[in-house]
Amino acid sequence: MNSFSSLSHPNIAFIKYWGNRDNTLRIPANGSISMNLSSLETRTTVEASPEFRIDSLTLNNRRETGAVLDRVKVFFDLLREISGKPFYAHVKSENNFPLSAGIASSASAFAALAMVGSKAFGLDLTEKELSILARRGSGSASRSIPGGFVEWHAGKTNAGSFAETIAPADHWELWDCVAVVTEQPKKTGSTEGHLLAGTSPLQAARVKDAPRRLEICRNAILKRDFEALANIIELDSNMMHGVMMTSQPPLMYWSPKSLEIMLEVAKWRKTSIPAAYTLDAGPNVHVICTREYAHRVRARLEKIPGVAWVLSSGVGSGVQMLS
Ligand code: DP6
Repeated sequence: MNSFSSLSHPNIAFIKYWGNRDNTLRIPANGSISMNLSSLETRTTVEASPEFRIDSLTLNNRRETGAVLDRVKVFFDLLREISGKPFYAHVKSENNFPLSAGIASSASAFAALAMVGSKAFGLDLTEKELSILARRGSGSASRSIPGGFVEWHAGKTNAGSFAETIAPADHWELWDCVAVVTEQPKKTGSTEGHLLAGTSPLQAARVKDAPRRLEICRNAILKRDFEALANIIELDSNMMHGVMMTSQPPLMYWSPKSLEIMLEVAKWRKTSIPAAYTLDAGPNVHVICTREYAHRVRARLEKIPGVAWVLSSGVGSGVQMLS
């Protein structure tokens, strides 16, 4: 019996992944850049054995069935294929953040499964190979394998689509303060949303302009230039939501409260606090700032009526083995 445990973190994208060139392989339409979130943790244990008869998944002490388990089974089918081992796996995973916070837990989940799953199936993969494998479970998981600030190179083939660190976690003390405005699960998940990206007439322009935004974002991180970072991440988030809203059918992930917070954050930047907003496929607003402003950002967000609570995190490491 092989049992392995790992610690992984979700990430927040500064330049977003939205839409795939290849949906089965999860080869994205454009590259993306993110930072890992240190305070948000996923601890995962995988046991694999030829004696097990099924794959099973216990998530936050709840035995999963249905679509959540099916997605994990597909991932283990891939590991069975790559390793040539007819093992089944039992997975136990716990997050220290509520799933209702709308933080993409699939990123930390599949980063962990790539790491401990590959070990349990007797594979010894490099960081690049782990990123490629994690990508097959969830695109954004490819970015939770390396540490710190990470760029996922879109590539055109399975082997060419992987993420790597562009700057380590201690390069810049950035903070993500997440204003949670709803705890309802979203109606259209990211996987379904990616399929619709191409139906928006704006997606082609968004993808074409991606290398320019990636370069500005990469340079802003490398130079620790907050103003440049703030402008590009807000533009990129707005462009992705522009595509979402103009898909067929339209995907409206923002709520009026999200927009109110976005306008507030833009005002703070002009007047008092360097901060910038970015939103994933949901209404919760991620507010990025440097560590020195994190307390003030948090306090201000908490005062906005309709903000249920605020979750905050600095920059995290990549996936790590625990045993
Ligand atoms: C809006 O990685 O969750 O958060 O590959 O289908 O699992 P799948 O999608 P996922 O998409 C993330 C979309 C996003 C932007 C981003 O994180 O880059």
